[in-house]
Amino acid sequence: MNKKLIAGNWKMNGSLTANDVLVRAILTGLAPEASAVCDVAVAVPAPYLAQLQSLAVGSSLALAAQDVSTHEMGAYTGEVSAVMLRDFGVRYALVGHSERRQYHGETDHVVALKAQRALAAGITPIVCVGETLAERENGQTEAVVKRQLAAVIHLNGHCISEVVVAYEPVWAIGTGKTATPEQAQQVHAVLRAQLAAASDKGARIRLLYGGSMNATNAAQLLAQPDIDGGLIGGASLKPTDFLQIVAAAQ
Ligand code: G3P
Repeated sequence: MNKKLIAGNWKMNGSLTANDVLVRAILTGLAPEASAVCDVAVAVPAPYLAQLQSLAVGSSLALAAQDVSTHEMGAYTGEVSAVMLRDFGVRYALVGHSERRQYHGETDHVVALKAQRALAAGITPIVCVGETLAERENGQTEAVVKRQLAAVIHLNGHCISEVVVAYEPVWAIGTGKTATPEQAQQVHAVLRAQLAAASDKGARIRLLYGGSMNATNAAQLLAQPDIDGGLIGGASLKPTDFLQIVAAAQ
């Protein structure tokens, strides 16, 4: 089984000064034994990739992007291509985060194209799926996440086993209302079954939970059989909390 993955998503937060303090604190806390039992990554706002690349050099901290263009290169103002991300040593790229689906109208098809671009550049896509509160209350959770995952299961020239999947119930993101370990495990088991049916390596794909995971609840969530890590928002900006979540992944 792969090592667990704890990824921090800084979203549109940070500054050169704050990033320097945060990353140095995280690196100090990433004792060799901690990083040896799980992978640790931080998804930073694109303008800071150069700063993070130099701060993280030689460490076990991996760089991640929060988005990637569907295009390879060209006249697409404001976009960042996968090959550009590769130039900065990016190892992971979030695709289909609910905030991009919501604010940028990203469809399942667009998410699949982004995942394809990331893979083509040697970057592991972290494919985000998750239902809204209304969808959960209407009993549509399973149908929604299975539809979102189905869009990336057959990527041209690549195997689904090359991706990471993050289940992020939209109603738990930034709200402090974390899914219970049982709620999260139930959806992760559905995703695991779908992946296992699609690929003989499906059972090994890392399934991260995201949505108000914090230092207090991380251990219970990470103890679930089909939760292989976390995608952390707010708590990733607090080095002590983030490191406690990493420690809980051991
Ligand atoms: O991508 C992770 C993020 O959506 C979760 O945010 O603040 O609920 O941990 P948060």
